[in-house]
Amino acid sequence: MGKIRLDKYLADAGEGTRSQVKELIRRGQVLVDGVCVKTPEYKLDTDTAKVMCRGKELSREGLVYYLFHKPAGCLTATEDVSQPVVMDYLKEAPGKGLFPVGRLDKDTEGLLLITNDGELAHGLLSPRRHVEKTYYVEVRGVLTEKEEELFASGMEIGDEKPALPARLDILESGRRSKARVTIREGRYHQIKRMFAAAGMEVTYLKRLSMGGLTLPEELGKGAFRALTLEEVRRLKEAAAGGRISEEKPGPPA
Ligand code: URA
Repeated sequence: MGKIRLDKYLADAGEGTRSQVKELIRRGQVLVDGVCVKTPEYKLDTDTAKVMCRGKELSREGLVYYLFHKPAGCLTATEDVSQPVVMDYLKEAPGKGLFPVGRLDKDTEGLLLITNDGELAHGLLSPRRHVEKTYYVEVRGVLTEKEEELFASGMEIGDEKPALPARLDILESGRRSKARVTIREGRYHQIKRMFAAAGMEVTYLKRLSMGGLTLPEELGKGAFRALTLEEVRRLKEAAAGGRISEEKPGPPA
């Protein structure tokens, strides 16, 4: 990548706007190769420099990662002149070339990863990697053990191949039921088509987790935050086909 200004490097890495990172630099919160640098114009070699900001080591490639709580009513797209898109909510997010990883339907809410790391996105979306995604779902219809078994068996949903076995955890059963569903692929309208194949209509859908990354309860609809280094590490592990966290996300807010 060569040499770039320290303030630009920090802004591209998602540490804040250009003026916010200049302030951080002037306040002595940035170290380059272990030395405190207080001049935003300082040129650093991105191939070799080790940059720490507020005690945290930064990624070298200007890659940024955001966890976004998608509200219903916006498209998972970078732009559309006629209707709201998820990227409208991230206009202030530092970083270049941001895009959503995968797709949630317009009426689906919940966790959406936004990044400019194409390699990570590719790994997370690869059908070969079987990255787990958990959804909270409300349906019209009575969910029973029969549906749990059907989901676990790898059901036919109208594609060439049946869906991979999925886990259905029933939270409430009645004329309208609530459940958590964990799938390991990401086919078009997959959750809605799985319930349709079981004779039920999905009335509400929210993604709670993906690849060990969980939607935080305190992150309101339409809000985003940068991922922690640990969250990025877990996602990279999932994208590389590694072990996936077994922890169950809590019920939706
Ligand atoms: N499955 C669906 O049917 N819709 C989504 O938005 C995500 C998964």
